[in-house]
Formats: sequence, C-alpha cells, structure tokens
Amino acid sequence: MQSPFLAGCARVVASALAMAHAASLAATFPEPSALPDQPGLPDPLVLMSGERVKSARDWERRRRPELRALFQHYMYGDLPGRPGRMRFETVAEHDDFLGGAGTLRLVRVTCGASDPTVIDLMVVTPRDARGRVPVFLAMNFCGNHAVSSDPRIPLTRGWLYQSCAGCTDNHATEAGRGGQAMDWPIADILARGHAFATFCSTDIDSDRGDVSDGVRATEARRRGETPTGADRGTIAAWAWGFHRCVDYLVTDKRVDARRIVAVGHSRNGKTALLAGAMDDRIALAIPHQAGCGGTAPSRGTTGESVERINRAFPHWFNARFKSFTNAPARLPFDQHALVALMAPRPVLLSNAEQDTWANPAGQFEVLKAAEPVYRLLGAGGVDATSMPPNGSLVRSRLGYYIRPGKHSMTADDWRVFMDFAEAHLGGRRR
Ligand code: GCU
Repeated sequence: MQSPFLAGCARVVASALAMAHAASLAATFPEPSALPDQPGLPDPLVLMSGERVKSARDWERRRRPELRALFQHYMYGDLPGRPGRMRFETVAEHDDFLGGAGTLRLVRVTCGASDPTVIDLMVVTPRDARGRVPVFLAMNFCGNHAVSSDPRIPLTRGWLYQSCAGCTDNHATEAGRGGQAMDWPIADILARGHAFATFCSTDIDSDRGDVSDGVRATEARRRGETPTGADRGTIAAWAWGFHRCVDYLVTDKRVDARRIVAVGHSRNGKTALLAGAMDDRIALAIPHQAGCGGTAPSRGTTGESVERINRAFPHWFNARFKSFTNAPARLPFDQHALVALMAPRPVLLSNAEQDTWANPAGQFEVLKAAEPVYRLLGAGGVDATSMPPNGSLVRSRLGYYIRPGKHSMTADDWRVFMDFAEAHLGGRRR
C-alpha cells in the first residue's frame, strides 16, 4: 500500500499537472465578447471545437478537463493547487463527545510551509463503529464552536458575519457556542453510523468584498499583487478548502476514504458542488439550496440572476464572470455541466418550496440537462420526468428533493441527506 507521504507527493504532482493542462486549454478560450449567444442550456457533450463527445473515454480525456478549465476561466477563477507542504496535527481528542456517542478529534490542517492557510477541522466519529465509516464533510458559516455546544471546541479565530449568534465586532465569543446546533444534528448522524467533519469558511476566506484574507491573499502576496473584490474567486478558494480537508480525511483510519460526502448550504452548497466537480475523491455531493452560481441555471429567469449575484457578491467569482452580467446566454456552459462533472458519482440537489431565490424548478431542469453525461457513463438518468411532490426523494444518482418551507437547513433535511447517501454508498457495516 502507498504511504500517505507518497500519496501526498503524487497528489501535488497531479495537481500541478492538472493546473498546467487547464492553463494550456484556457489559452485557447475566446474573449467573452467573442462567444456566441446560446439561449438554451448548451449541450454538455459538445466540445468547444464543435466536436461531439462520442464515448466515455472522450468525455474523460477531453470534455471533462475542458469543462473544468472553462468553469475556472470564465466563472470561478483558478482553484489553487495542493501546497507542497501540508501538516495535520491532532490538537485534541476526546472520546466522550455527546455523552460517549462519539469521539471528537480537533485537527489543525496547515496548508503551505511559509505564510500558510490554517484550517481548524473538527472530526466526530461514532464510538461503536465497526470498521471505517462514511463521512459527511461540511463547511459552516459561523464557526465549529457554533455547530455544537461542547466547550472543548475552540472558538473560531477569524472574522465572522455579525448575524452569527454571539458575535461581537464580527468575532466569536463564548455566547455563540452551539448557536447553530439546530442545523447540525450530529447525534443523529453518529447514531446512523456516519462520521461528521466540519470547518468554517472564514479559515479560507472571510467572505468580505472589501477585504481579502486567507488563501487568495497568500497567493496575491506571492505574486506581489493585491486581490480585489471584483477578481477574487472566493467560492473556488473555499472549494480548495474542502480539498485540503479531504487531504486529511484520506489519512484518518477511522473514516472510509471512498465514502466522503461534501455538504453545504446555500453559498456553502455552491462550494460543495464545485469541490466535488473538481475532485474525484469526493464520492457524493449535496449542494443544499445552492441556487445561482451553484445549482440553478445562470440563464434562469426565476430568483437570483447573474446580474444580481455579480452586483451583491462580486468577490465570489473572477473578473471575467462580470462580462456575463447582462449576457448569461454567452456562457459556453451552464450549471448542468458542473453537475455533470460529478458523473458518475451521485449528487443531490435539495430545495425548499418557498426558497424561490434559489430557483428549485430551474434546478430540476439543470439536473435533467446533466442526464446525457450520466447515461453516457452508464450511471442512469433522473428517476422522475417532472419535479417530485414535496417530501418525496428522487433517489437516482442524479437526485432531487424539495420540501415545504424556507431557506434553511434542518434535522429533517439531514435525514434526507443520510437516506440518499446510504442508498448510494451503503450505511453502517455489519
Ligand atoms: C444570498 C445570495 C445567495 C446565497 C445566499 C446564502 O441570498 O444571494 O446566492 O446562496 O445568500 O449563502 O445564504
């Protein structure tokens, strides 16, 4: 078996090669103004050259790398590579988490040798596990200390949204402990035999248009530049954060490296999908209520538009994406192609009826439009011809769910996430 050190080296080389390949492809991409208008969702199986993808091999070798390069070039900005030096340090381990239901491991993931980005990853595994267990890896908004009231979880260090419970001057205080525990039913996750890992987005990028910190700031310092709000790519930076946590998880002997599920809500859902699309180590993705810039069509006419998202959150994307503000039909792809990059792995688009800002109906169209790629790879289509009724999970690898209610993540949503993951990855080993 390959040692984690050698596997890490292989990953650095693979990541550098993929970046070089993406850069060489990008050099051939036209200026946005030279792209043709395509009012419908572009065919995911047609290459930029106009050639049609005819086989799974063609998809793997040519179209998949091209789409990965296209999304980075025109929309999200480049994903940074894996740093040559990664350090994983177990800062603390407690086997009496939640009254003994789980073990809490606090891991510090240090990315880079000098000027590193440091991610505090919290990993909880069921105490009664037999063998390696699937793990839900999620990015949170308000800090690891907010997902559980356990006083041993360190308060998040970085800038936080003032709307996070217990925040003073945009920083965490003890009053914020467990402030979001309702959204994260960790006891249920453990009871079903899964592990749960989470990190806070602020460790990677604090999500401010006017301040760049974290990995984008580090990259810019290396280039002697100052990153701007209009050309940053925060979502891609966060996706890179998922990847660095995966780097750790594949070394953790209690979790199953082949059953890593990426989860996120809203902007974090956009990120979870991008992370899965760009990294095959993620076995399944659950972008929950992700909407525009994630799971909803950029060409959509319901809910948030490209114009609106670029105006409100310019730092989430790169500068080139601003060229599509009033011309989304010029994009040479739409979000169905991002979903298709998950193929043949399962992906669940989950929604709420009143969350029209995230365009649940448009997301169903996105899912359907990813079908040709899943079918080409022998992974089947969407097991529904129209949007399912509230509360009924479409369990095909291209999965869909909608429930009554608003923009939120609840314990009931997590039950559906687990049902879907267990249907595809299996549950507890007996
Ligand atoms: C805003 C934004 C959405 C985003 C959401 C969130 O509503 O317009 O695109 O998904 O915030 O992250 O909560």
